[in-house]
Amino acid sequence: MSLLAVEGLRGGYVAADEIVRGASLSVEEGEIVSLIGPNGAGKSTLLKLVAGLLRPSGGRVVLQDRQIAGLPATAIGRLGLSFVPQERNVFAAMTVRENLEMGAYLEPAQARTRIEALFARFPMLADKRRALARTLSGGQRQILAMAMALMTSPRLLLLDEPSAGLSPKAAEELFATIVALNRDGVAILMVEQNALEALTISVRAYVLVVGQVAREGPAAALMADPSVRDLFLGG
Ligand SMILES: Nc1ncnc2c1ncn2[C@@H]1O[C@H](COP(=O)(O)OP(=O)(O)OP(=O)(O)O)[C@@H](O)[C@H]1O
Ligand SMILES: [Mg+2]
Repeated sequence: MSLLAVEGLRGGYVAADEIVRGASLSVEEGEIVSLIGPNGAGKSTLLKLVAGLLRPSGGRVVLQDRQIAGLPATAIGRLGLSFVPQERNVFAAMTVRENLEMGAYLEPAQARTRIEALFARFPMLADKRRALARTLSGGQRQILAMAMALMTSPRLLLLDEPSAGLSPKAAEELFATIVALNRDGVAILMVEQNALEALTISVRAYVLVVGQVAREGPAAALMADPSVRDLFLGG
């Protein structure tokens, strides 16, 4: 049984305009899986449909053995899925610590213990605990956004363009952090613009084009594929 199985998923922002048009993908326990594709293909929309921020108009989303399509985001969060959106993923006017407290919305009583564990894991966040999130660098902000998502101890983390806007060095550090989290047992489904870097740390990948999965396979095979290289990897 897959950790996450998405089958024939459909949906968008308004009923008349379907953005995700029957997409199927899966994430197995312990995997890092990438979702790549052109701008506007529906990658962010697909993640929002899976995480319960948008309501699917069709298809199935199964997390472990539960059908979660149509459940509210908080219920999906309780079942072990956490989502880091592409934009506005931290509260800029709040401190680092307050942001982490917001991440504990499912189990406020566990907040202190979880925050201490995350400070031990990400010493930069401990050093900056009283700093306002808006004063963090882009890379630090992405770490904070991920740490907020980790406050609920998820089994599966959905990441939407974690390296967007980062310098090559900061992006490299962020990818290393993602690999380390995965080694600790968190499965990852990641949308990335930096397709080459994403494929390098992924076991498998999917290419989404106009709301449908156009290609899928082992990340290494997709990286070696000339048509994928032409489209996403600069030839
Ligand atoms: N909040 C919204 N309301 C209405 N339509 C939206 C909204 N967000 C995105 N769309 C539309 O949905 C389509 C797919 O957008 P989406 O953000 O899912 O693409 P994407 O693959 O994530 O692209 P990118 O690589 O640029 O992030 C686009 O046509 C976009 O205009
Ligand atoms: Mg997007």
